[in-house]
Amino acid sequence: MSIQPIGIFDSGVGGTSIWKEINKLLPYEHTIYLADSKNAPYGEKSAEEIVALSEKNTEYLLAQGCKLIVVACNTATTNAISYLRAKYDIPFIGIEPAIKPAALQTVSKKIGILATKGTLSSALFHQTSKIITNGIQLIEQNGEGLVPLIEQGRVFETETKQLLEKYLNPMISEGVDCIVLGCTHYPYLIPIIKSILPDHIQIIDSGEAVAKQTKNILEKNSLLAKSNSSTHQFYTNANVATLKEFLRDYSVSISHLDF
Ligand code: DGL
Repeated sequence: MSIQPIGIFDSGVGGTSIWKEINKLLPYEHTIYLADSKNAPYGEKSAEEIVALSEKNTEYLLAQGCKLIVVACNTATTNAISYLRAKYDIPFIGIEPAIKPAALQTVSKKIGILATKGTLSSALFHQTSKIITNGIQLIEQNGEGLVPLIEQGRVFETETKQLLEKYLNPMISEGVDCIVLGCTHYPYLIPIIKSILPDHIQIIDSGEAVAKQTKNILEKNSLLAKSNSSTHQFYTNANVATLKEFLRDYSVSISHLDF
């Protein structure tokens, strides 16, 4: 069991931010990553469409013999993970916006969250935010337009910065002291976000927590890899060159696949 790969999927290149955390913590695990960039952004799709795409990605990863699947996408997690867990008999790790840690840290009692429409409108997000936002104001912002720009590799362009200013400036004026990044594409925007935010505002994301949870679940199920080397296969159904750019510091195999 332990030589089987971990499967990871996202609507595109964003989940590589999660893959990097997993690879850092669990360097001996084999991984297979699916970037469904052809269908990005998931955030603008209906819950039914997001479930269907998540199911299709899962089927592919299961056919490759994956022992555990990381849904490296907040939108897919919040809309589809209960369905996937009920249907398939392997462990699933999901990612949700880190509003709980933000609630513990905020002093101003105002938290900003930047996420996709699909995440912000999901039942799971509503449930979580209701529990933790007791006395804390949550300022939600749909990051519409950001995922397509990142998918095109246009992270450091003026258009991206202008869009971020449009989304973040109202939160700054409201007095937030934490901003939660509720989409796995957004960690790639951190350098630009930092240039917009005043120093006292913290940026919170869940990548490291997902890697820790993956390790815990593998341990619990006796699924940790025993080898001391690993292979990493990345597939995209869109542009290989763009995905390569996000993984330029890693020696991994990246191919095009129609799925
Ligand atoms: N990385 C996905 C997420 O975490 C992006 C969703 C999208 O494709 O809109 O939500």
